Amino acid sequence: GKGNYKHFMEKEIHEQPATVGETLNGLVDAGTRGVVLPDLPFDLGSLDRVTLVACGTSYYAAMVAKYWIESLGQVPVELDIASEFRYRNGPVLPGSLAIFVSQSGETVDTLAALRYAKAKGAHTAAVVNVPTSAMAREADLVLRTLAGPEIGVATTKAFTAQLSVLACFATALGRARGVLSAEREAQITQALMEIPARLAEGLVKLPSALTAIVEEVAEARDVLYLGRGLSYPLAMEGALKLKEISYIHAEGYAAGEMKHGPIALIDEAVPVIALAPEDSWFEKTVSNLQEVAARRGRVIVFTTKTGAEHLRPIAAHVVELPSIDPLVSPLLYALPVQLLAYYVAVRKGTDVDQPRNLAKSVTVE
Ligand code: F6R
Repeated sequence: GKGNYKHFMEKEIHEQPATVGETLNGLVDAGTRGVVLPDLPFDLGSLDRVTLVACGTSYYAAMVAKYWIESLGQVPVELDIASEFRYRNGPVLPGSLAIFVSQSGETVDTLAALRYAKAKGAHTAAVVNVPTSAMAREADLVLRTLAGPEIGVATTKAFTAQLSVLACFATALGRARGVLSAEREAQITQALMEIPARLAEGLVKLPSALTAIVEEVAEARDVLYLGRGLSYPLAMEGALKLKEISYIHAEGYAAGEMKHGPIALIDEAVPVIALAPEDSWFEKTVSNLQEVAARRGRVIVFTTKTGAEHLRPIAAHVVELPSIDPLVSPLLYALPVQLLAYYVAVRKGTDVDQPRNLAKSVTVE
């Protein structure tokens, strides 16, 4: 049941400290502060290409994973939407690894892509939440997310569980290839293990911090989400969440791409929501947001306490998030975008758990 929550989505958002913790428990050795993957049917250290395929929110988790695998593992990643990957008859290198990310494990586009990669001789891995699913049965390797049953059609806790697994995978890959130091691995696992506490903190503070923003977003016709680097996929995810449950038109963009076209959309009627953790992209994001503010755009920003000092002069609203290792920021910044979409949908009175035209598991191509 929903317990004390009004919707499954709200309950599932609040379960994330537990579900991220549970998922990481099986992958991180708190004693050695190292990542432990299940036995692999291939040699991780000799991989020289990874293909990531998924749909929807799972695709955005895969997009974050591309950044992690390329930076921590130094392996080039090909990233694709399953419905595109499957039907262009593209090459798949035999002996390469193809990873399929799916909550349900049944999404037919992703399943067809898995079968295609397998038939071409790739090693296949499935990051799935439903252990009895078709993808779990058919992949050579299953990396489980332990998010528990997800009922709300809009996925939340499965996304952060996918990020948890994929961060561990990228770390293990970097170690196996000899490009990641034991010291950095320990920092990463430490940062990951802190996430449940930071999510719990966010769950206490964000509801009131978001109140004024919810009003403004609920009245908008269009909303832009911006981020760079690891926050770019989160901007895409924020826009998808808002669209699917509140029916407000939203788009996610790489903040640096604004000047190549989308900045023409900016006026005071379009809220611009920026995800700006203090990472190596932060300064660049700030200057992109200055360009938005200079065109009278209303900037709403999620950042850290010290990031807030830089952004207050140009932003209409600044929401502070706990400070964490920037590498794991997607796991924390998922929370405000989920909560914002949820509150806006509740305010608009939509059917949050069963949005129109959507199904929990998409079994048509
Ligand atoms: C968005 C959402 C969908 C799914 C997509 C893939 O909130 O739920 O975009 O992420 O349909 O589903 P799975 O992960 O089951 O393959």
